Amino acid sequence: MTSRPVTGPTVPGVVTAAPPLSFAGVTRSFGRSRAVDAVSLTAGPGVVGLLGPNGAGKSTLLRIAATVLAPDRGEVRLLGLDPSRPDERLEVRRRLGYLPQAPGLYPGFTPFDLVDYVAVLKEHTHAARRREEVRRVLVSVGLEDDMHRKIRRLSGGTRQRVALAAALLGDPDLLVLDEPATGLDPEQRLRLRSLLSQARTVVMATHHIAEVSSVCHEVHVVLGGRVHFSGPPAGLAALAAGRVWEDDRPDPRAVHSWLTPAGTHRHVGEPPAGAALVAPTLDDGYLLLTAEARR
Ligand SMILES: Nc1ncnc2c1ncn2[C@@H]1O[C@H](COP(=O)(O)OP(=O)(O)OP(=O)(O)O)[C@@H](O)[C@H]1O
Ligand SMILES: [Mg+2]
Repeated sequence: MTSRPVTGPTVPGVVTAAPPLSFAGVTRSFGRSRAVDAVSLTAGPGVVGLLGPNGAGKSTLLRIAATVLAPDRGEVRLLGLDPSRPDERLEVRRRLGYLPQAPGLYPGFTPFDLVDYVAVLKEHTHAARRREEVRRVLVSVGLEDDMHRKIRRLSGGTRQRVALAAALLGDPDLLVLDEPATGLDPEQRLRLRSLLSQARTVVMATHHIAEVSSVCHEVHVVLGGRVHFSGPPAGLAALAAGRVWEDDRPDPRAVHSWLTPAGTHRHVGEPPAGAALVAPTLDDGYLLLTAEARR
């Protein structure tokens, strides 16, 4: 193997392993538009979430993390390897699973054929062991009854699970998932959560804040190609501490306000004197951060 694991001593004499994913000053533009702007972040073992509005740059970051796209500038290390070097990129790809945001699936294939095809590409050469692995990942996403039906006959959420199964092949060291919960019913979402908690390192983009609070130990909020918050989900909620209040009427002084199902108006921003403060949630922290960034 030609890999050069990157290690660095943090305490004299003690060598610590590099994080499974590390970006330093990563920038990527499309024409004149900068989709990812000098992003630095690391992901250790566990599930790391990327939150951010449409067009924020999450998928671009994940495509770079999946070695599908190269950055224009900056340094990327995946599993301690440098994906700009062809030999190390190959090694990363062997140990990485990727679920794109819009996975293209051959409609004439069955889930079994498709995942088997991906397994061949991932160099699972021993036929019997490969078939066993293909069955294992398909069963892990609940496709035991549908694995031999044509993909064109499957529902949207079921197709999503086929692509997820392909990403799980070989129990990857690094799992890069772009909105994995899209289209999944509540039962399948719970199944996904338990799959994620068994995986080694997962970097996942999502629009579901509930997903973040239930599975992620760390979250990065991406806005306009930059990371505006990095920390535990509770830290994101804490951004809004003392800055959330409810009232019978909308308050124009709020940075953001919305009507709750209970019929009260919830506000984030600088509360007026005497406001009825309430405990902040992750949604409040996220909305406050995004609304202030837009100002
Ligand atoms: N291949 C491409 N060519 C041109 N522009 C692109 C390309 N891919 C992404 N972009 C642009 O880069 C920016 C970031 O897009 P990206 O898909 O990374 O956002 P996102 O955060 O994943 O959004 P969403 O939540 O909608 O999935 C957008 O302005 C998008 O139009
Ligand atoms: Mg996206």
